[in-house]
Amino acid sequence: MEKKNIDWGNLDFGYIATDKRYVSNFQNGAWDEGILTEDATVAINECAGVLQYAQTVFEGLKAYTTADGHIVTFRPDLNAERMEQSARRLEMPVFPKERFIDAVIEVVKANAAYVPPFGTGATLYIRPYLFGTNPVIGVKPADEYQFRIFVTPVGPYFKGGVKPLTIRVCDFDRAAPRGTGHIKAGLNYAMSMHAIVTAHQEGYDENMYLDAATRTNVEETGGANFLFVTKDNKVVTPKSSSILPSITRRSLLHVAKEYLGLEVEEREVALEEVKDFAECGLCGTAAVISPVGKIVDHGKEICLPSGMEKMGPTTQKLYDTLTGIQMGRLEAPEGWIRVVV
Ligand code: PLP
Ligand code: COI
Repeated sequence: MEKKNIDWGNLDFGYIATDKRYVSNFQNGAWDEGILTEDATVAINECAGVLQYAQTVFEGLKAYTTADGHIVTFRPDLNAERMEQSARRLEMPVFPKERFIDAVIEVVKANAAYVPPFGTGATLYIRPYLFGTNPVIGVKPADEYQFRIFVTPVGPYFKGGVKPLTIRVCDFDRAAPRGTGHIKAGLNYAMSMHAIVTAHQEGYDENMYLDAATRTNVEETGGANFLFVTKDNKVVTPKSSSILPSITRRSLLHVAKEYLGLEVEEREVALEEVKDFAECGLCGTAAVISPVGKIVDHGKEICLPSGMEKMGPTTQKLYDTLTGIQMGRLEAPEGWIRVVV
């Protein structure tokens, strides 16, 4: 199969329309059989539930070209399960797990010419999403829904690739206790727009959100979970019921323990103790692991000992091992890799 003429090495994290996307509609209480279409436009009623009351949830995962030329995806079953949790929380119908995985594979296969070649540093980002389509004006769930998956070739999420980031402690809250922070709902991202725009205006790459109840514990950023490394080389990650259960983070904890023999701790992390860590990174599908060099808390700078030039040594090992598994350089745990072709 001939690849598209794309400058793979210089892609940023943006949208490029590819040939095919997957669409299935939910009507009269059931999902239709779903199709691949070339039509990238969604036409819905002006009063659609998604437009009025933001009834939409989404997922993000990637396809990779492995060293031996296969195209694979990473743990799509966990994305299907998380989308189920998200849908249930917003009173939306669940797109069945096996159908979700099959649709991911089908749409990647149909766009194989857009999957970046091995070694380019780029990957194919896969975006499944679900939204209410019929008119809703009283506040209630829609009766009809559309589930779609498009794909787009992407480069690094943060400009500068793996250069350490500078982030700020954010004055806005991302999610309330008992709210929707633990699901992947569009509404969580709409409310972060002002925070990210002002962070960028002030020269920061991202926001560190604190827990809304006490504002003393570290939660996550707008699009990634935190990972810290202690001076005695333990991997620590914040535990909270209002952060998104990152699949990358869950995978990295396994990698840290089982591949690198490191101790791991998932627990509350106080902002106060961040100054004592040796390394900090942001982890997620888009972010992979992006190192943090500096955290600014209202003028007070926390400079991680790993510095502003490169990733800390343990973050680097985690990065190499995870991407090694994803790109087929290292053997994956059972069930983590789904071969597309
Ligand atoms: N946290 C938030 C708010 C996110 O949007 C994402 C991205 O999906 C993550 C964490 C990382 O999750 P995952 O590793 O499953 O991509
Ligand atoms: C992802 O990593 O898949 C996300 O959805 C995060 C988003 C900020 C792009």
